Amino acid sequence: MPFYKIYERKTSNNETCSIIKNILLLHLSTLINRVYTILYEDSSWFCASTNLRKRKKMEKINWSELSFGYMPTDCNIRCSYKDGAWGKLEKHTDEYLTMHMAATCLHYGQEAFEGLKAFKGKDGKIRVFRIDENAKRMQSSCDGIMMAKFPIEKFKEAVIMVIKENERFVPPYESGASLYIRPLIIGMSAQVGVNAAKEYQFILFVTPVGPYFKGGFQTTPFVIFREYDRAAPLGTGTYKIGGNYAASLLAGQKAHDMGYSNCFYLDAKEKKYIDECGAANFFGIKNNTYVTPKSTSVLPSITNKSLMVLAKELGMKVEQRPIPEEELSTFEEAGACGTAAVISPIERIDDLEKNKSYIFSSDGKPGVMSEKLYKKLRAIQYGEEPDKYGWITIVE
Ligand code: PLP
Ligand code: COI
Repeated sequence: MPFYKIYERKTSNNETCSIIKNILLLHLSTLINRVYTILYEDSSWFCASTNLRKRKKMEKINWSELSFGYMPTDCNIRCSYKDGAWGKLEKHTDEYLTMHMAATCLHYGQEAFEGLKAFKGKDGKIRVFRIDENAKRMQSSCDGIMMAKFPIEKFKEAVIMVIKENERFVPPYESGASLYIRPLIIGMSAQVGVNAAKEYQFILFVTPVGPYFKGGFQTTPFVIFREYDRAAPLGTGTYKIGGNYAASLLAGQKAHDMGYSNCFYLDAKEKKYIDECGAANFFGIKNNTYVTPKSTSVLPSITNKSLMVLAKELGMKVEQRPIPEEELSTFEEAGACGTAAVISPIERIDDLEKNKSYIFSSDGKPGVMSEKLYKKLRAIQYGEEPDKYGWITIVE
């Protein structure tokens, strides 16, 4: 497809050597200070500002083909922390940030984020799942890396605001897609000494994402690597901070290259107990019991917390305790759980060092209880089951 882009960039006048040059550069930068994009699409030319470009793209969204990727939307919300207090929520259309090169988020990893979703129901209403839990977990992450905590009520207000501002990006019910909501907080102060920043920025953006299972609810294989740790027992694994994800990239890539869905982590100290499956919590099911790890290095998953409630409702027992690797051979079903997929059923877990495979599905199909739990949670999120536990916020 013919596709042409011309960018006119903001001119810098830092290298001024004379007053005249300075004035000339200033005039020049005023003239070309806006970004224009020229598009040639569908046999016609468009000379459009960035917003128009987005709007045009928007008309073409094929909701059922969305992946878990980034797509520009209309607006993001920001809030700054200065002199010991958070300011007002501000709407922004710019997707870029300006910050000092010595900002603590760039050097010392002062960054925490969250992930939650909004769903459009059959009734046309938009529902957000467990905003409070994400707000609380973000506060815990902030405490963990000495950042200013974002107030819970402000978090909720920002989430509702960003959805309303981007309402046309909430995928329709039939598509099975949803609106992914990504809040983050970063340390902004310029600092070279290893200390916490004095200034922070909260940013909240949204992007529509596709249904995790395009070909239906499916099982995938995982692999145990003993040569990588995601988080230490007394480290930062319980916080949702960027550093933990950077630490998991290499193992994740290696697992993908070997044809696995992700790396299966054992506890870092003894390599004896189960920790997490990639960026998701683990659960196993046997004898009508839902078993999930108790560990000081796993992220307290909101999906897992919800599944434990639903498992009880379905008449299952729930156990949260250390799970030794050998116990994997006793589970009838196993899954990875998190916001992105709700449940990603596990086909098998290979322990290559021990030359062992723990198989949970021989025909590639998910287990009966995993499917029941998956459908029940999805039904609550899409408003097809009553919200008995007060997990849903309707955006009005
Ligand atoms: N564990 C890790 C490391 C994660 O990144 C996530 C994703 O957020 C989860 C577990 C699942 O958590 P939640 O259910 O809150 O999305
Ligand atoms: C999830 O939402 O389940 C995740 O694993 C979050 C990930 C995209 C960081």
